[in-house]
Amino acid sequence: MGRRKRPPHKLMTRIGALVLLSTASLWGQSIQYSEARKVWLLTTQQSSYALGVGPDGAVRHLYWGAPLWRVDDIPAPTQRRDISSFDPRQMIENEEFPGWGGTRYYEPALKITREDGDRDLVLKYASHRVQGNDLDISLKDIRDDIQVTLHYAVYPENGIVRRNATIRNGTTRPLTIESVQSATWYLPPGEGYQLSYLTGRWAAETQLNREPIHEGAKVLESRKGHTSHNFNPWFAIDHGDASEESGRVWYGALAWSGNWRITVEQTPYRQVRVTGGLNTFDFAYPLKPGESLDTPIFYAGYSDSGYGGASRTMHKFEREQILPGGKESRPRPVLYNSWEATTFNVNEAGQRELADKAAKLGVELFVMDDGWFGKRNDDRAGLGDWFVNPQKFPQGLKGLIDHVNGLGMDFGLWVEPEMVNADSDLYRAHPDWVMNFKDRPRSELRNQMVLNLARADVKEYIFGMLDKLAGEYNIRYFKWDMNRAFSEPGWPELAATDQRKLWVEYVRNLYEIFDRLRAKHPKLEIESCSGGGGRIDLGILRRVEEVWASDNTEAFDRLRIQEGFSQAYAAKIMSAWVTDVPNMNGRSTPLAFRFLVAMQGALGVGANLNKWTEQDSKTATDMIATYKRIRTTVQTGDLYRIASPRTNDVTVNQYVATDGKQSVVFAFRHSQEYNLAAPTIYLRGLDERALYKVESVNNKLLDRQTPVSGAYLMRAGLNVNLRGDFDSTAIILERQ
Ligand code: GLA
Repeated sequence: MGRRKRPPHKLMTRIGALVLLSTASLWGQSIQYSEARKVWLLTTQQSSYALGVGPDGAVRHLYWGAPLWRVDDIPAPTQRRDISSFDPRQMIENEEFPGWGGTRYYEPALKITREDGDRDLVLKYASHRVQGNDLDISLKDIRDDIQVTLHYAVYPENGIVRRNATIRNGTTRPLTIESVQSATWYLPPGEGYQLSYLTGRWAAETQLNREPIHEGAKVLESRKGHTSHNFNPWFAIDHGDASEESGRVWYGALAWSGNWRITVEQTPYRQVRVTGGLNTFDFAYPLKPGESLDTPIFYAGYSDSGYGGASRTMHKFEREQILPGGKESRPRPVLYNSWEATTFNVNEAGQRELADKAAKLGVELFVMDDGWFGKRNDDRAGLGDWFVNPQKFPQGLKGLIDHVNGLGMDFGLWVEPEMVNADSDLYRAHPDWVMNFKDRPRSELRNQMVLNLARADVKEYIFGMLDKLAGEYNIRYFKWDMNRAFSEPGWPELAATDQRKLWVEYVRNLYEIFDRLRAKHPKLEIESCSGGGGRIDLGILRRVEEVWASDNTEAFDRLRIQEGFSQAYAAKIMSAWVTDVPNMNGRSTPLAFRFLVAMQGALGVGANLNKWTEQDSKTATDMIATYKRIRTTVQTGDLYRIASPRTNDVTVNQYVATDGKQSVVFAFRHSQEYNLAAPTIYLRGLDERALYKVESVNNKLLDRQTPVSGAYLMRAGLNVNLRGDFDSTAIILERQ
């Protein structure tokens, strides 16, 4: 508009250059392609990923690591020579999505059987398409019209590359897929790698394991129908030299809440490869002519600042790209849940009384757990009958919900939609709705059976029931539980060849219900629970605000569960309650300790408030008020794991707000020995030039000077007076 452009200030240009430096745009497009050499380079702020077409037409992996900026630097893949008649060239050529066929002996990404028994599948490049941050590469079998489209999406700002594949039967004959994976990832060739992964069981989820990768294959998987407590679909690999804050780490997470598998292989040729997708166990997915199958999404990233850098990137990615509402979603409210207080013994008067008490503590969301429906007086009856129990709530739920809302709290309700008790009207009416093999026993676990959600009528019933509840009542939140693993996964109404589709269709229908419910009730929030942490993965997290990390609420055990959880998942997602003692291990920790452990996630209270002393309620009120002051930092800040509960007599975690204005340090002493003082805490992630006001929530600071510079806090550290067993504190730093 005729306005003269002012020459940019020198400082501004420098800032501009810095900003540019930190974005993928300096490195060119997030996706570069060299037509001459048929090489693609995918780049984010933290990583690059390259692949290309070999002389034989196979698409080959070329690079995964720190950012590169020039596609022309990457040599086109050349054809290798066979090493021997036992070691063909394919074994060292790192095919991006190998079919099982020809001379390939490692874990394939796709294995099929044709109607006539022919099982050979050799995939070659056909075409590709780049659109913004998306790349699709089409492959085709050398003879048949069996098409595979490899989908890539780059999240330049979030440091993540996303992959999955679509398999299409373009032939005129049916075929059956026996294995289909989402992606194969290759580490730079070499040995000495180390695998981090999460294992567990009910009440002991997300335990962090680290072990060297040797020749052979390590399988992480679920065969239980849900994500499972036993393994979580996440991995991280380093070169054996990474720490929390240094070293190269390659990591990934699979977004699938059913049977999944991640195979980590080291070949005899010093190549580590990770193949993940649908579990091949009991798997057979028929494709008629024209039909296709989309695989789950596999997300991956690279960090050159250790495990801490990897998880901070992952957390931010989840908050911004995975969770419903993304960046705009509200902070998680402080929740009260009635389960441990009342178990099945719920009624209107009792819940009102708990709600009154919870509101006084500062609770914002009141959740009524199991026991409110059907003939649900214990775990032997009622699942499936989702109508309000008239003895317990003669006027329906409206009276209770109005009361809760009148106290300024939202109302949440527990449901377990996928299940049925034999003693229920639903089972009496529809015994065929349960997954089963005809005329064979139907195993019960916790006295319940699993509905075959792969069936359209079951899906509609479940959707209708939840839709009705959400429409009839002012329900802000469902705690969606799933309290047993699958068994006898038969679908007798289908032809034998189609029955195993159940594993996939079940999860798809589950996702569809979540998606439809959320679309129809935009204010509704959902928690994913599966007997604690049995359904935590990036697939379900696209559809829920929180997950219940474990039925084990014992605070000391929780430190390790939370440490493992935090490798892969953001604090905002992690529902964490304060409950009564002694719990689980017969251990009693102080109430302040229990609060501070739970305040590292989305804080909840699950105690029997009727039994609390005045002092307990005061401690809780103060802690909840403190939590509200720091929750944005905890829920959306950067996490630095300073001391691990696995290797120290203290656990220390620090959260730094994204704007750098606040930081919170949580410190826990487990068990003091030899009269030793707690170790000095060296803080991280602060601005060394800035001054911070330092305070402890319970007066545990040994160094009392304040303000203190970031440089001092990070280099000379901070000392706290934690003594004896289960002492704890939180230190709040406010930037001056
Ligand atoms: C599961 C959940 C608990 C509780 C009970 C109710 O065990 O993990 O939090 O909801 O079911 O039956």
